[in-house]
Amino acid sequence: MQKVTIVGAGRVGETAAQILAEGELCREVALLDVREDVPEGVALDIFQTAPFFDFDTRVIGSSDPAIMSGSDLIIVTAGVPRKLGMSRSDVLDVNLGVIDGICDNALKYAPDAIMLLVTNPVDVLTYRAFKRTGWDRRRVFGQAGVLDSSRMASFIALETGFSARDITTIVLGGHGDTMVPLSRYCTVNGIPVEHFIGSDVMQQIIERTRAGGAEILALRKNSSAYDAPGAAVAAMVDSISNNRRRILPCVAILDGEYDESGIAMGVPCVLGENGVESVVQLDLLESELKMFRESVATIRKDIERLD
Ligand code: 2OP
Repeated sequence: MQKVTIVGAGRVGETAAQILAEGELCREVALLDVREDVPEGVALDIFQTAPFFDFDTRVIGSSDPAIMSGSDLIIVTAGVPRKLGMSRSDVLDVNLGVIDGICDNALKYAPDAIMLLVTNPVDVLTYRAFKRTGWDRRRVFGQAGVLDSSRMASFIALETGFSARDITTIVLGGHGDTMVPLSRYCTVNGIPVEHFIGSDVMQQIIERTRAGGAEILALRKNSSAYDAPGAAVAAMVDSISNNRRRILPCVAILDGEYDESGIAMGVPCVLGENGVESVVQLDLLESELKMFRESVATIRKDIERLD
């Protein structure tokens, strides 16, 4: 990939930019932010790490949306983060205007790009971006499940003492209290996790995963999480940029999959150079399906607020 624009030079945007540049996942990272001078400063700061990390990806910044021109991928991190005690849905109204503006600029300056949404509430805003741009659904998707799955994996690593690298997890559904961590698909190097962890402890891990973002916010006090969210974005970009076709849980627009349409939801997707190449349909158990439908209902409630 030649050029990635990250909209929002806040903490998630900055962290993602650093990892993309360091990993040389594209030739140029552009940071766009409405705050004057800030994106230039962030870009310069990151580029000055190049001699340490031995990369030559260019990193540039601007508050002029024309910087998006020629982007292959637009990553949207801009918007207001939730504060302590708020749910992700509480920031919907204000972030809606932000996303609409970004979509309009994308249509003007980078009409052939694909778009990865991170701004919360990510499920609803991914759906909004899909509608607003009118782009093919493969080109508009969101990040949440990769982060939620990494949180679940880290909790399993902490509990078992095994290498976090060996742990595979998958979290579907909305990025909120109704997310659907699928313990049945969790393994430690292929061995089902229930071999090591009893169901009570697993249930605690599931609850902690659901509240993973809130836990970080409560501990950090003045900031939402950004290290793991930035890394999760980079993992998705790596799959796109190198056309790895990894199966990753992404917020995808559903068109009949899982018997749902007109909604953006966390589901396993094949992520490649065209974006969401396909949605993987799992045969969910009745109990899993029940959680999935509850998640659908919560997201639909917010989508209805858009009209
Ligand atoms: C999180 O889960 C901010 O939604 C983001 O940390």
